[in-house]
Amino acid sequence: MEIQKKNVLVTGSTRGIGLAIAHKFASLGANVVLNGRSALSEEFLNPFLDYGVKVVAISGDVSQAADAERMVAEATEALGSVDILVNNAGITNDTLLLKMTEEDFESILKVNLTGSFNMTKAVLKPMIKARQGAIINLSSVVGLMGNAGQANYAASKAGLIGFSKSVAREVAARGVRVNVIAPGFIESDMTDQLSDKMKTAMMAQIPMKVFGQPEQVADVAVFLAQQEYLTGQVLAVDGGLTMQ
Ligand SMILES: NC(=O)c1ccc[n+]([C@@H]2O[C@H](COP(=O)([O-])OP(=O)(O)OC[C@H]3O[C@@H](n4cnc5c(N)ncnc54)[C@H](OP(=O)(O)O)[C@@H]3O)[C@@H](O)[C@H]2O)c1
Repeated sequence: MEIQKKNVLVTGSTRGIGLAIAHKFASLGANVVLNGRSALSEEFLNPFLDYGVKVVAISGDVSQAADAERMVAEATEALGSVDILVNNAGITNDTLLLKMTEEDFESILKVNLTGSFNMTKAVLKPMIKARQGAIINLSSVVGLMGNAGQANYAASKAGLIGFSKSVAREVAARGVRVNVIAPGFIESDMTDQLSDKMKTAMMAQIPMKVFGQPEQVADVAVFLAQQEYLTGQVLAVDGGLTMQ
């Protein structure tokens, strides 16, 4: 798929990986829709105008179906269509299972898994009608390997892989592709919260002995959007962490 002049909606793009993905697509000439739960100021949008593309900020909570529908409707009204959806919004709330409450568990699934369901459902019909579309879902190596203290997050990210492969099969013949990125340890606000001890333990497991950058994940998101004979795949961007 040619990226230039396409319309890309990236959920959770106020910072970190989502923001890097939005910049990468915009730098290639795509119009972008930025999203987070809080409103975005004009100052935040200005750097995107340097790319000569349209940029729209639509705040909303992906875990709420009504918000997801409204965001897609507003994006479509502003740009004409949503050609590429990147389900990037995600949260963590880590604790060992014996201490994990039902609320701790369900609140993570609601954003990371149900949020992607809500957004995918909202864009899918027009994509099928246009016989064109790319959906890219941000899972995690934790969804592949598990991680002590992250049973809720791992369940949401593993669920997202099953969800993506199922939808990919449903719409493959209709011109819509669904792929997954499973990042390893990427430097962002999410990983800044971790203790030095945890960071050292993670680094020890990474064959390349370096943490990843949001821009490296963004490059892969663009590749997955561009490559037209690729669907239902999970690409780990993890410095070799999950190689088999
Ligand atoms: N960093 C890593 O090492 C890593 C590794 C594997 C996978 N991932 C995945 O990659 C994605 C991005 O991670 P990140 O490290 O960039 O996270 P981050 O820095 O914490 O950013 C998360 C983004 O999601 C938004 N967000 C959170 N809840 C939302 C909701 N309910 N509705 C809409 N937006 C919401 C946040 O904006 P607001 O706070 O304004 O809502 C923010 O823009 C996540 O899905 C994460 O699980 C990250």
